Amino acid sequence: MQNFNIGFIGGGNMTRSLIGGLIANGFKRDKISVAEPDEQKRTRLATDFGIHTLDSSQQIAATADVLLLAVKPQVMKQVTKNMASAVQQHQPLIISIAAGIRESDINRWLGGNCAIVRAMPNTPALVECSATALYANSQVREQQREQAESVLRAVGLALWLDSEGQMDTVTALSGSGPAYFLLIMEIMQQTAVTLGLDDKTARLLTLQTAFGTAKMALESNEDATTLRRRVTSPGGTTEQAIKVLEDGGLWELFHQALSAARTRSEELAKQLGEK
Ligand SMILES: NC(=O)c1ccc[n+]([C@@H]2O[C@H](COP(=O)([O-])OP(=O)(O)OC[C@H]3O[C@@H](n4cnc5c(N)ncnc54)[C@H](OP(=O)(O)O)[C@@H]3O)[C@@H](O)[C@H]2O)c1
Repeated sequence: MQNFNIGFIGGGNMTRSLIGGLIANGFKRDKISVAEPDEQKRTRLATDFGIHTLDSSQQIAATADVLLLAVKPQVMKQVTKNMASAVQQHQPLIISIAAGIRESDINRWLGGNCAIVRAMPNTPALVECSATALYANSQVREQQREQAESVLRAVGLALWLDSEGQMDTVTALSGSGPAYFLLIMEIMQQTAVTLGLDDKTARLLTLQTAFGTAKMALESNEDATTLRRRVTSPGGTTEQAIKVLEDGGLWELFHQALSAARTRSEELAKQLGEK
């Protein structure tokens, strides 16, 4: 993995995951620094990862080649405006992982003309199994695209989008997606208990089924429809269950659910980006 100076703004959960992934991939600890206002979090970061921490985002913005913004969307405007002059002088690559904040808003708050990559990772980044979509604005150079991709790859899959407009659909699919799968696991597990299994058995069989199915689908060249048909024998048990789910409107429900999440993502981006 190529090494460059990377500065994280915000030392919360996502930063910890990304730093863990980077170090596991051979990134040098002395190239990583974090700006975080909470002293306890700074101490934990320094102790757990052996990296440099400080409370000034301006100082990091003035030295990092890559500046990764990992604060909550609600404080992004204030955080970026505070370090705008350091960013303008030093011109680092900016990577924002904040949900819902558009590149044009970050660019405006930072004073304009910045190289910005927007990334949308998801919660499994905490166990280095994220699904991340990336979008680069026109100022981002090829080498900077590679840097951004290598950072997000440290916690899982990273794919590029052609347009930022696709980010709202990504938010509805993989951003919120872990919650959909968890809901399905919850439903399957609790239903199995009502049908006679003990809780531990129902939980383990549900989780391993979800894990094994995802692994099988990822390792196969066949699409989900083909794989599902293969385990649905005519006249068998699976066929009965799938018929109940489809007759009950599952396809339509998912269409409505993802559309609602997408619309909410558009609304939030508008609200958060207002001047
Ligand atoms: N968690 C996920 O699965 C996930 C997935 C996709 C995207 N994201 C995005 O990733 C970002 C970070 O999420 P997270 O879960 O890591 O949140 P988090 O744990 O709350 O971390 C954010 C950190 O930023 C710190 N902070 C606040 N103001 C700051 C400032 N002025 N300068 C520097 N640091 C500051 C906060 O400190 P205090 O606690 O002291 O305020 C906190 O430690 C969010 O924008 C979120 O939308 C998260």
